[in-house]
Amino acid sequence: MPYAHDRVRAIVWHEDALELLDQRRLPGETDYQRLTTAAEVAQAIRDMVVRGAPAIGIAAAYGVVLAAKARHAENPNCWRILMVADLAQLAAARPTAVNLVWALRRMERVMAEAGGAPVERFLAEARAIHAEDLAANRRMGELGAALLGERGAVLTHCNTGSLATGGYGTALGVIRRGYEQGSIERVYADETRPWLQGARLTAWELVQDEIPVTLLADGAAAALLRQGEVRWAIVGADRVAANGDVANKIGTYHLAVAARYHGVKFMVVAPTSTMDMSIASGAEIPIEQRAAEELLTLGGQPVAAVGAEVWNPSFDITPAVLVDALVTERGVVLAPDAEKMARLMAEAG
Ligand code: MRU
Repeated sequence: MPYAHDRVRAIVWHEDALELLDQRRLPGETDYQRLTTAAEVAQAIRDMVVRGAPAIGIAAAYGVVLAAKARHAENPNCWRILMVADLAQLAAARPTAVNLVWALRRMERVMAEAGGAPVERFLAEARAIHAEDLAANRRMGELGAALLGERGAVLTHCNTGSLATGGYGTALGVIRRGYEQGSIERVYADETRPWLQGARLTAWELVQDEIPVTLLADGAAAALLRQGEVRWAIVGADRVAANGDVANKIGTYHLAVAARYHGVKFMVVAPTSTMDMSIASGAEIPIEQRAAEELLTLGGQPVAAVGAEVWNPSFDITPAVLVDALVTERGVVLAPDAEKMARLMAEAG
């Protein structure tokens, strides 16, 4: 079986409803939420029932299907106008990952074209977005794994796996493929404070796939890289600017700095749906600020001094100059810059 190392699906369309694996409850519980309205999908994205850049785009696309169904039933003559508010609500759910608005734009094009009975047409487009993401991940898995070289360990940050995508994963897809082909013997996973995507989700996916995984506190990454065992740091992205700057989970930037300092290669794996050529550099990427409670509490228990203020950005920007390889489904860009990005995206059509 070619893709033995990929057993989880976070997003399922089933009997006219969207079923999302509730990622807030992993790894303890594997519960699927059944959603039947666009408002519920927007809420699920906001609350991180579903998270990860490609996954929130796919979920939003299915949210548009639910909106079309409800609005067309409500008024078959002006369903398009009624849907505008649903699209706006979905677009506002989270600000940093551009895949969300990318997917909504694709669904909007269907809105312009679809005739009398539009729901099937919307569903076909959402399914296409979902299937294309899975195919892109498998292609990136091949392309990224081909760069790995000599057998060794890799370090990853956050969760970029089947849970964060339509399946297989971006950075975790490269890791799955690299392990399968024998270039990776161990995966180090940053725990990824404060939401613990590394500890709760990445480690869970890797343990299920029987890929050896060692967890570390985010602050231990530089010390690990200094030891010389890790050959590549491999991460995903929420948005890549026209000059190759990368927005990804908070902690990615200091990992890239430490990797460069220690001579460890830094790979970003992201589909072209994550590229935002409308912005010149990472300075223009909106960074989501999340609730203070994420730092003040742990598992619902207070852990910080009462009265402390909190700065809790969910993402940071890694300058393109720290990226050795950007892996997309259209090809690999070594040392990305504005010119190479423009060439890649022109080829992408
Ligand atoms: O806040 P999250 O969990 O949605 O953040 C996810 C990340 O930062 C991932 O690294 C990124 O979306 C790439 S997922 C393939």
